[in-house]
Amino acid sequence: MKLSTKVEKALNDQINLELNSAYAYLGMAAYFAQTPFAGFARWMHLQSREELGHAQKFFDYLVDRGGKVSLQALAQPASAYQAPIDAFRASLQHEQKVSAAIERIYELALSEKDYSTMSFLKWFLDEQVEEEKSVNDMLARLELVGDNTSGLYQVDQYAGRRGES
Ligand code: FEO
Repeated sequence: MKLSTKVEKALNDQINLELNSAYAYLGMAAYFAQTPFAGFARWMHLQSREELGHAQKFFDYLVDRGGKVSLQALAQPASAYQAPIDAFRASLQHEQKVSAAIERIYELALSEKDYSTMSFLKWFLDEQVEEEKSVNDMLARLELVGDNTSGLYQVDQYAGRRGES
């Protein structure tokens, strides 16, 4: 089944959103690089790389379906925050935006009877549950320790143990 113009555009927009995500996380990594929080910096770097992987998956799927990849400009990301928790709050907002975008493409694919795209998006729906959970977990820890320096140090150590996935 040929990819519809609407689905093709939605997938291209999602490539842009995933690349913007990678860039946003790189901005957060740049912020943490200016602080003693090496664990948070590593967490953000890994997240940035994951987002590049997401963009690549959309890119490959578009090509596999005979669609045309149209790359768009990226927005300048923030690279300054008041405190570590603010970066993670921004991250949660961003992930919620990505989840909503993927759900919209899923609804579009459903209305276009594009079952292959729905099947492809299933991985992303599951992934977004993981992504939001992982950021919420970091936020809960940061809220728990507040401004306590040794608590922040421990959360940073925890963030630094994040595995590559
Ligand atoms: Fe690719 Fe974090 O959404």
